[in-house]
Amino acid sequence: MPAGTVEVFVVCAATSIEPGSAKAFSLSRVDAEGQIRPFAIFIVRTLADGYFGYVNACPHQGSWLNFGAGTFFAADRRLLECGRHQAKFEIETGLCVAGPCKGENLEPVAIVVIDGELCLCGVTLVEDHGGPDPFSGVDDADETMEIMIHPD
Ligand code: FES
Repeated sequence: MPAGTVEVFVVCAATSIEPGSAKAFSLSRVDAEGQIRPFAIFIVRTLADGYFGYVNACPHQGSWLNFGAGTFFAADRRLLECGRHQAKFEIETGLCVAGPCKGENLEPVAIVVIDGELCLCGVTLVEDHGGPDPFSGVDDADETMEIMIHPD
């Protein structure tokens, strides 16, 4: 890859996540040792059209946040909530504000919207990730592209 470029991976159309909802993706990535590892993430779209991505692993015991009922949100939908022991997290920061891992953070995933597509950056995904996402049934994490980063 030429210097000054960042590889990004298209995950889905930005509009495929409804405002005020979240969607899980079961991806595979290549780690620093070159090993292929499962990479479960979720992306939240706020009512104000902000997008926030996190690794789908609770800092308490590593559970998927949507464990159980399949939702990522507390009842009032103003916070994220882990389905296992109900830790609550700020949507915009991933900070746990209540529950057994209070003060810890969800691991953020860098995402960017390019031409209406939600893209991941900073990770190398494996394009053949073994089929559709188990939560959404969507199998669209198979496109890659590169963008140039121009320093100001
Ligand atoms: S695993 Fe999430 S609160 Fe315990």
